[in-house]
Amino acid sequence: MKSNWLLALQERMWGLAPWDASLISDEWFRAHFEYAADVVNQWIGSVLDVRTARFLNFGCGDGITDLSLVLRYGATSIHGVDIRREYTKLPRIAREQLGMRRIPSALTFETITPGAPLAGKRALVDGIMSWSTFEHVQRDQLAPILADLHSCLRPGGYFFIQIEPLFFSPFGSHLRRYDDVPWHHLLASEDELWSIIQNHHGPIDAAEVDFGFADFGVEGYKRFVFKEYQALNRLTADELVEFAQNAGFAVARQERRHVDMPIPAALKSQFADEVLLTNEIFLLLQKT
Ligand SMILES: C[S@@+](CC[C@H](N)C(=O)[O-])C[C@H]1O[C@@H](n2cnc3c(N)ncnc32)[C@H](O)[C@@H]1O
Repeated sequence: MKSNWLLALQERMWGLAPWDASLISDEWFRAHFEYAADVVNQWIGSVLDVRTARFLNFGCGDGITDLSLVLRYGATSIHGVDIRREYTKLPRIAREQLGMRRIPSALTFETITPGAPLAGKRALVDGIMSWSTFEHVQRDQLAPILADLHSCLRPGGYFFIQIEPLFFSPFGSHLRRYDDVPWHHLLASEDELWSIIQNHHGPIDAAEVDFGFADFGVEGYKRFVFKEYQALNRLTADELVEFAQNAGFAVARQERRHVDMPIPAALKSQFADEVLLTNEIFLLLQKT
């Protein structure tokens, strides 16, 4: 990826590189460029001026949502951090999906080690967003990471978190690409789940295939996705809110989405209906 000063210079000379959304052919790209960015903008844009606010995206992944926030909503400063380096693919992805030759200088990215503190390294931000990431953070790192993010935010700033699917919901394993049986991860053994994945052949839902798929290949991707499943922190919506409040955040607004499905009898006795049926949380926090 080109250095940011070079991009800024090119932008000053030629403006933002042209882009064309009619070129989008990849469903993963579309889901992030359109849906995820729209939702983030709705929530964070209701409390901050997206055009002037400085943002941190925690767990930015490939950065497609950030790119969209710049191109479609006029964001001018988003720093994405992630423990993986998927964002290095963004220039190629933007070229392929939008015909865009330069990534906007409004975007910067950084690879971090899990749990390494961010506070004090950069100026305080006005807003933080985190999409489909907090269920992947190691449980013992949740409290220190949330406290660190609290310290990265200016007083009065906002933090928007989305998680879907939540672990105890029907497809909370994140394995639906390979196994369509609701709550199977709470009913079957790990060996059974792995053998279903291993025996899966044929295409998987294109909206669930990220740009890392090509690096792993079909079988490698199965191993990667299964490891991700094993590493899920099993956070519930209530627990997330409690962790956030313990880190000093106030809840400004939240929405929980539910599925309407018959709960298997074997699970009814083990978990509350509310936990089993809540598959998504949108949580807007404020540093008061
Ligand atoms: C499902 S992906 C979502 C990525 C991106 N937000 C998106 O919507 O495509 C989860 C991301 O969380 C990142 N992640 C997991 N643990 C993390 C941590 N402790 N710190 C920062 N990022 C983390 C992963 O590397 C991965 O990119």
